[in-house]
Order: sequence, then structure tokens, then C-alpha cells
Amino acid sequence: MKESAITVIGGGTMGREIAFVAAMSGFQTYLVDIEERFLDNAREQLTTSTTRMTERQRVSQEAVEAGFQNLTFTIDRDTAVKNSSFVIEAIIEDLGTKQQLFAELDKIAAPETILASNSSSIVSSKLADGLKHPERVCNVHFFNPVLQMTLVEVVGGEHTAQTTVDRAMELAKALGKTPVHIEKEIFGFIVNRILMAIVGEALHLYEEGYASIEDIDTAIKEGLSHPMGPFTLMDLVGVDINLGIQQLAAQERNDHLVPDVSPTLSKLVEQGKLGRKTGTGFYNYNK
Ligand code: NAI
Repeated sequence: MKESAITVIGGGTMGREIAFVAAMSGFQTYLVDIEERFLDNAREQLTTSTTRMTERQRVSQEAVEAGFQNLTFTIDRDTAVKNSSFVIEAIIEDLGTKQQLFAELDKIAAPETILASNSSSIVSSKLADGLKHPERVCNVHFFNPVLQMTLVEVVGGEHTAQTTVDRAMELAKALGKTPVHIEKEIFGFIVNRILMAIVGEALHLYEEGYASIEDIDTAIKEGLSHPMGPFTLMDLVGVDINLGIQQLAAQERNDHLVPDVSPTLSKLVEQGKLGRKTGTGFYNYNK
């Protein structure tokens, strides 16, 4: 089934690029936010990143022009949702805010319109609970930066209809992405779980004095052919973000993976050493 139009709700880091990829792929697309200034910022950021991509010949000028032509920036959420057969939520990572949004969307959207969440940590059963049409709710998890990263994790829960999963997989392919299907809900899906395991073990080895930060990074780079080691990666993503993930994971019960919250991460965050963005984290970038 070809989706008639796509609405992406939340014009931040993820939402704006998801919407742009949909628009470039030929879908009539709406990007919704709560205030015009956030949409203006989204338009500006998209202009900057697509200009860079055309300069580097990663995408053609025509594709970018088509993207902007097919994309409507709007604060009129309800009209956008009513006109769309597929809605992707990419608002702030807050359960209560997302639950309220999904309750409203369930009332506004046609019953066959899919309601998908791009959340990294909130499984869609928490959003579908109590809705009239939980069968059309799932997770569709894109990776940052969406304009470049091709993976999409599609996750259905017990409430999710097979047709919902099928349509999400099909849409991801139509956007030029490579979807993978996670058949049961689990915290962190595939990629973030495996990343959490690597990061957790790297911290354990360092904290227990088995090896230095530099040697652990070198071992993972050279031994597993990863583009960078786990400490370099944490500095890039943000030490605070990694601490947040560990704290969230710690709330998950009955999960064999869950690492203890690392004292090293807590200490660095207390000291304001958040990684590249502050100039220091595990490494010093001010040299
Ligand atoms: P962000 O903070 O950059 O953007 C959120 C946007 O949502 C803001 O523009 C805000 O004004 C808007 N917003 C907030 N409440 C709204 C509402 N009720 N209606 C409409 N718009 C609303 O957030 P970001 O980083 O784009 O994350 C969005 C979602 O994507 C989160 O659920 C996050 O877990 C997920 N995600 C984030 C990744 C990342 O690397 N940043 C990677 C993969 C998933």
C-alpha cells in the first residue's frame, strides 16, 4: 500500500530529517511543531544540511528541491493528521507528553492511519494503552543523522496488527532505508542494547583497573574494526546522554543486560565534563 501522505510531529533533530527524507522520496509530507519559531529553525537547519550534502554530491539539487516542494511546515497538527495515512511522532522524550499526544491522535486520525513513535526508549505499548485503535500503533526508530543513516528499527508489541508492521516496513523501504523487524518489545531495541552492552563492559574494565581508556578504545577499534572505541563514542554522543540511558535502563526490571549506573559517568557529569560538546569528557579536546 502506498501511503497517501505522511505527518511527522516534532521538528527537532530527528523529526525534521525524517520529514525531509519522506518528502524527498515523493511523499506529500507535513512537519508539525508547536510554534512557528521551531519550524523556522527546522527549515534553516534543513537548508544548511542539504546544502552541505549537495556540495559533497551526496544528493542531487533536484532531489532537495523536490523535498522542499513536498514538505509543508505547519502548526495545524489536526489538519495534517487528518490528511495523512501515516503519522510519525518525534517529540521530546517524555512519557506523559507522548501519552497525551497519542490519546489526541487516536481521536483525530482516521482508524486506518498508522501512529508510530520514533522514541529510543519508550515502547509503543505504553502509548497504545487505552486507545480505541491500539492495533495501528508501533515504534519506527530512525538513527541520527536521518539524512545519512539507513537503518530503521520497526517494533511491534502485542497490541500491534501485522498490517501495521508490514506498512511500517514498506514505508521505511520506500524512504530508501533498511528496516529490521523486532518481533517483541524490549528496552533499547537491537542497536542500543548491543551498544549498552559494549559501553557497560568498557566502563567495567576501566573502573576495575583492567585497562586504560585509551587501550580499551584501541582494542575495540583494531580488534572489532569499529570506527571508534566506546569512550570516544561516549564523548561524541555526550557523557550525560550515556548516563541518562543507564539510569533509564536501571528502571527496567527483569532485564539481564542492565548495567549498574557507572560511578565514572556520574562523576564526569557532576564535573560538567560531558564530552566533545564541553571540550572535556573521557578525553580532553582543548589541547
Ligand atoms: P528535539 O528536542 O530535538 O526535538 C523535539 C521537537 O518536538 C521540538 O522541536 C519541540 O518543539 C517539539 N515538540 C515538543 N512537544 C511537542 C508536541 N506536543 N507537539 C509537537 N511538537 C512538539 O528531540 P529529538 O532529539 O529530535 O528526539 C525526538 C524523539 O526522537 C525522541 O523520542 C527521541 O528518543 C527520539 N530519537 C532521538 C535520537 C537522537 O539522536 N536525537 C535518535 C533516535 C530517536
